Amino acid sequence: MPEPSDPSLHGRGPQGTTGPTRRIHLSAAGVSVVLDVTGGRIPAILHWGRELGPVTAADAVNLAAVTTPPVANNAPDIPLRLGILPQNADGWLGTPGVTGSRADGSGFAPRLTCRSVRIDGQELQADFLEVEDGRVTFDLADEAQGLEVGLEVELTAHGLLRTRAQVTNTGSDEYTLASLTPALPVPLDATELLDFAGRWTHERTPQRRAFTTGTHLRENRRGRTGADAAHLLHAGTAGFDFGSGQVWAVHVGFSGNHTHLAERTSGGTQILAGGELLLPGEGRLAAGDTYRGPWLYGSYGNGLDRVARRFHRHLRSRENHVSVDRPVTLNVWEAVYFDHDLERLTDLADRAAALGVERYVLDDGWFGSRRDDTSGLGDWQVSPEVWPDGLGPLIDHVTGLGMQFGLWFEPEMVNIDSEVARAHPEWVMAPSPQLLPVESRYQQVLNLSHPGAFEHVHRQMNALLNEYDIAYIKWDHNRDLIEAADRSTGAAATHAQTLAAYRLMDRLKADHPGLEIESCSSGGARVDLGVLERTDRVWVSDCIDPLERLGMNRWTSQLIPFELMGSHIASGRSHTTGRLHSLSFRAASALMGHLGIEWDLAEASQEELAELRTWIQLYKEQRELLFTGDLVRADCGLDALWLTGVVSADKDRALYVLACAESADVAPGGQLRLPGLDPRTRYRVRPLVLGEAPSNLRWPAWAVNGVDPATDRNYRGRHELPLTEGIELSGAALASTGLSAPLMDPETAVLFEVIALSPGTAPTGTQPTDPGPTDPARA
Ligand code: DGJ
Repeated sequence: MPEPSDPSLHGRGPQGTTGPTRRIHLSAAGVSVVLDVTGGRIPAILHWGRELGPVTAADAVNLAAVTTPPVANNAPDIPLRLGILPQNADGWLGTPGVTGSRADGSGFAPRLTCRSVRIDGQELQADFLEVEDGRVTFDLADEAQGLEVGLEVELTAHGLLRTRAQVTNTGSDEYTLASLTPALPVPLDATELLDFAGRWTHERTPQRRAFTTGTHLRENRRGRTGADAAHLLHAGTAGFDFGSGQVWAVHVGFSGNHTHLAERTSGGTQILAGGELLLPGEGRLAAGDTYRGPWLYGSYGNGLDRVARRFHRHLRSRENHVSVDRPVTLNVWEAVYFDHDLERLTDLADRAAALGVERYVLDDGWFGSRRDDTSGLGDWQVSPEVWPDGLGPLIDHVTGLGMQFGLWFEPEMVNIDSEVARAHPEWVMAPSPQLLPVESRYQQVLNLSHPGAFEHVHRQMNALLNEYDIAYIKWDHNRDLIEAADRSTGAAATHAQTLAAYRLMDRLKADHPGLEIESCSSGGARVDLGVLERTDRVWVSDCIDPLERLGMNRWTSQLIPFELMGSHIASGRSHTTGRLHSLSFRAASALMGHLGIEWDLAEASQEELAELRTWIQLYKEQRELLFTGDLVRADCGLDALWLTGVVSADKDRALYVLACAESADVAPGGQLRLPGLDPRTRYRVRPLVLGEAPSNLRWPAWAVNGVDPATDRNYRGRHELPLTEGIELSGAALASTGLSAPLMDPETAVLFEVIALSPGTAPTGTQPTDPGPTDPARA
């Protein structure tokens, strides 16, 4: 078999391309990635998907051959080579990997070649290497254009693929980079797309469409991740769902402007791509300057749950990942808003501690002249008006009750009516010294890329962290960036602002070991893996209505695990939708997350407090499972019934929440299949109802103790009948036959607890119901 660099196979590559031939097979957790550099041409991915098993050097040569397309009619005379940074010189006519130019217009379509390849820092000398997880770095250059590019491709131990690139201007004059957009290939049988839309209080709503010719482009120009962020852009085989279908997904780990795109060309190529969206001028590189783009993450799996799992495992493997005893948190926002009063807030702390709350967070309104949202933002000094003795009395009270104390900040923002804006108008982002952008929530953006502004905010925050026992910061960001420029030059500064915010977080964390930061942005508008490199929780949404949260939590967890998702039990009537819900529905919907309370407990009845205590107790009992286990979700064949579960790593325990979201055409019952269990293990399944039973809940006989529905004429599945201690079945039966589900009113939920009896002892002949653990894509 001739090498594909042979012109008879490859046609003519871009003239003058010379360099090494290197192929690398990375494989981890059921995923294979085969990387190829042939004769110095731009690195390409020959395979990203299901694990291939052992690959030899000869196989790699053949893989390069069998993935080279024919030369099409009326197309360039060379077969298309889709680089990870796709380039025009290779015949690519879709979205380019690198664009930019010099003052005279040259350099708009760099022709990069590969000079060397390193794996985990060591130069690769051999033509072929097979490794498990690892990071490969390609040193690329276009010498004629004065550009060097470092391209990194990593497969993590959990099978998550990620890539990022950096561009250095090695020329003698300025080069303006316009975009840097790495791309990952997906096969043509990925015919459907899934990504997300949203708005304030309605973040991460799924949208599905066919993967058709053209570009499905999700541009974000908000200067923050966005309530309407694409979140993850998936491409999958027809009908893919939580448990089935091959799915590839990408996510850009960045909190500023960014793009995600899915592109299908008429030449029959499909990519998923993304990167930072640079505003005009933000990519200006003086001689010797370097720009580095964010990570583009790629996750492959059989079904959406497995795609999600790779992200979860990756985040859980972070060095400073949170521990499993995530403290039950009370946030005072919906209880008191701006009405700060020591007596009321200490009373709230007493009530919280009595319930078993472990962290107490004082929200907006404690500083400067901030008595409402029109003034004081940016003055990070405790208000002597509301807190004449400082925060000490409240913090001492809270910590004295055994709870941690957390404090709200919005470090990147100012009200124009503030000390800081009056003293330093030049720190406020604006297109010129004479103009201001339109206000949003009465606020403007403080330019943290201005060294004076950065030091000022850092000094004020640091002083508070030094003075008080503050374990936790709720870091808010409540507006989009509009005309976000350095006021003195008028130059766009969103890129610099995003990196400055990261720097501020990093510095505070470095100086205050153990400090946790929650990423909040008008609710859930800053949820991404860039901010999560330095934060410990995201606030999913300002909407705590449990019905809305079913969807938002479900889809937020497509990227991040439960322990990083702020999930609160609020008062009966939702402050953002006006809906009224039972406590059991509010609590069951919040349970699969980092549990908190956001409710004026002085208004709660004794019965409600007693029930709330049992939910908190349950959360504490289950949190280790919730924060180490694997997420599983199902639709139960009806849009109305939503199943969300978590199965322990060794599949000996599981907990499921079954929620009825709406009325359906047929009674929302049917067989409830429990995904994720070990098919060969026998389990005991027990329905769980805490506190007041959901309205009109009607259990099937299997769930009720000592009832024969055929003879007991009074049996109507009445919810006051004692529930069974459990029914025993194999994981295979639970996954494929399922259990008769209860009849439920809309906006109610019940739980099922599953415990393994004896591993691997299901009756002989019981077969796994779907491809078992031997299916590599299951990892
Ligand atoms: C928006 C957040 O999402 C809320 O939880 C609250 O912190 C307010 N900001 C405070 O202004």
